[in-house]
Amino acid sequence: MDTQYMQKKSLSAYAPASIGNVSLGFDLLGAALKPIDGSLLGDEVEVCQADSFSLQIKGRFADKLPADPASNIVTQCYHHYLSCLANKGIASDSLPAVAMTLHKHLPIGSGLGSSASSIVAAFHVLNQFYTALVGKKLFDDNELLLMMGELEGQISGSVHYDNVAPCFMGGLTLMAEHGAQVALPLPIFKHWYWVSCYSGISVSTAAARAILPKQVPMGTTIQFGRQLAVFIDALYRQDEKLAAAMMTDVVAEPYRKSLLPFFDESREFAIQNGALAFGISGSGPSVFAVCDSLEQAKVINQWLAENYIQNDTGFSHICQLDQQGAVVY
Ligand code: HSE
Repeated sequence: MDTQYMQKKSLSAYAPASIGNVSLGFDLLGAALKPIDGSLLGDEVEVCQADSFSLQIKGRFADKLPADPASNIVTQCYHHYLSCLANKGIASDSLPAVAMTLHKHLPIGSGLGSSASSIVAAFHVLNQFYTALVGKKLFDDNELLLMMGELEGQISGSVHYDNVAPCFMGGLTLMAEHGAQVALPLPIFKHWYWVSCYSGISVSTAAARAILPKQVPMGTTIQFGRQLAVFIDALYRQDEKLAAAMMTDVVAEPYRKSLLPFFDESREFAIQNGALAFGISGSGPSVFAVCDSLEQAKVINQWLAENYIQNDTGFSHICQLDQQGAVVY
């Protein structure tokens, strides 16, 4: 038991924004983001011991969520967590309830893994809180990831781990979805910069999935498999040129880019100005550009901020990969 937590009656968790797919790995690859200027790019969830459950929602994007806390994903995480505890023989009425606060810093429908960030922060902080209370580890990381994926699936219409896994584990992750191994950490290029730009419009993941064809032609399937396999090999051999050359999206981008004003112009500018790769972040509308020089990242960041952003909700950050993932404090 962690006595530090036992002494505290409240705990908080931060869970970073993430890039689903990373262009070449539809539903199978994800990356966690950390702005280099130190700004927070992720949601926070706080829990305090209480007589009954409650959820307060604060933060820049709080007013974009349903007004009724009962329909908030964090409330659903709480009930799901308690039902998983009940399956382990720990009845919820034997435990104190919690008052939760969601600090919603990420925009909804942004392609930055906004729902994943809330879900990961909620499960992570609940698990640490109740683990400290009960005095033994309740769920391991894989059990938590399975819960996170299930809740993410309730929002987006299908279970996929490419946001929750990097958000929870940090870095770049490959989905294994094999038995207890949900996701695998991958080597990264530590000097790469990831410019991440949110345009300010909202695209629902469910809608962006609905426009994709249900069947993929044989040639596309082979290209997808080749790119993903070669990319992973290049990461392990630290061959950044080959890795970057594999970072194109043959599955979703051809269909989804029609939802994204100025996508083609932005890609053209980024590639002409030295980006190693450019693509849609998750299901969009955010886009990302990968650079191996900070100077190039600055130029692309500024251009995207001036040209890709559509309204005053949008923003752009130069990031590196967040190697820590979700943290409890
Ligand atoms: N892999 C998911 C998709 C990510 O592209 O639909 C959603 O953020």
